[in-house]
Amino acid sequence: MLSLNNLHAMIEKKEILKGLSLEINEGEIHILMGPNGIGKSTLGHLIMGASHVHLTQGEIKLNETNLSGLSTAERARLGLYLAFQSPVAVPGLRISEYLRNLYNMHHNKQLSVSEFRKVLKEKLELLQIDRQALQRYLNDGFSGGEMKRFEMLQLMLLEPKFAVLDEIDSGVDMDAQKIVAQCITYMSKTSKTAFLIVTHYQRLLNFLDAHKVHVMLDGRIAKSGGLELVTSLEKEGYHWVKDHNTEVTL
Ligand SMILES: Nc1ncnc2c1ncn2[C@@H]1O[C@H](COP(=O)(O)OP(=O)(O)OP(=O)(O)O)[C@@H](O)[C@H]1O
Ligand SMILES: [Mg+2]
Repeated sequence: MLSLNNLHAMIEKKEILKGLSLEINEGEIHILMGPNGIGKSTLGHLIMGASHVHLTQGEIKLNETNLSGLSTAERARLGLYLAFQSPVAVPGLRISEYLRNLYNMHHNKQLSVSEFRKVLKEKLELLQIDRQALQRYLNDGFSGGEMKRFEMLQLMLLEPKFAVLDEIDSGVDMDAQKIVAQCITYMSKTSKTAFLIVTHYQRLLNFLDAHKVHVMLDGRIAKSGGLELVTSLEKEGYHWVKDHNTEVTL
C-alpha cells in the first residue's frame, strides 16, 4: 500500500532523512517512535508533499502511484492524510462550514446543512465532541485535547487510505486517549485505513492492536518489533537501541 523506499530528505541544508524505508499495508497500524528532533514530523510532512522538505533520493509510492511531483492537494485526493503535531488555528473559519465543504469536496457530494448533520452525528458521539463546538472557529482558542479530537473528526470524515497521526495522544487526557484509540481501530477495520502513528508514550498503544513498532534514529528506521520494544524503550531509553545495534553490527 504505502511504500517508503530509501528516503533521503533535507530541510534547508540539513539532511534529516538518510535512507528511511518502510512498508505499510492496508488496515495496518504502525507506530513510529524516536528522540525529539530526529525527523518524525519531517517524515509526515514529506509524505504529504510539504514544500520545505526536499526529497533528494528514494521514492514514496501509494499502491503503484509514485507521489513525487504531486502537490499536497493531489496527495490528499489520492487518500493521504496528516494530523498535525501542532494544528494551526484559523480565526474566521467556522468549523461547521469548513467540515461540510471539506466533506463535500473530498467525496464529490453536495450535502446540505441538515444532511451533513446526520453524517456528523455518530462521529461526534464517538469522539464525545459537543455539537456547540462546531460553531467556533477552527482550533481558535482550543485546548490541546480539543484540537486533537478535531483532527480525528476530520480523519473520520475523509476516510483516507493512509494517515499519519503525529503525536495525536499528546495533551490528550486518559479518557480521550481511549476514545482516540477506538476511532483508530474503527477506521482501520471499517475503512481499511492504514496508520503511521508517531508517539512518545506507551499508553495509547495499550488500547491499540498495533502491527509493528519502529524506532527512528539517525534518519532511518534503526529497529522494528512488537509492543515489547516499547517496554524496553520505556525502561532503557533510546541508547538501548543504539547500543544494541552497535553490538549487532560489530
Ligand atoms: N521548517 C524547518 N526549518 C528548519 N529546520 C526544521 C524545520 N522543520 C524541522 N526542522 C528541523 O528538522 C529536525 C527534525 O525535526 P522534526 O520536527 O521532524 O523532529 P521530530 O522527530 O518530529 O521531533 P519531536 O519528537 O520533538 O516532535 C529538527 O532538527 C528540526 O529543528
Ligand atoms: Mg514531531
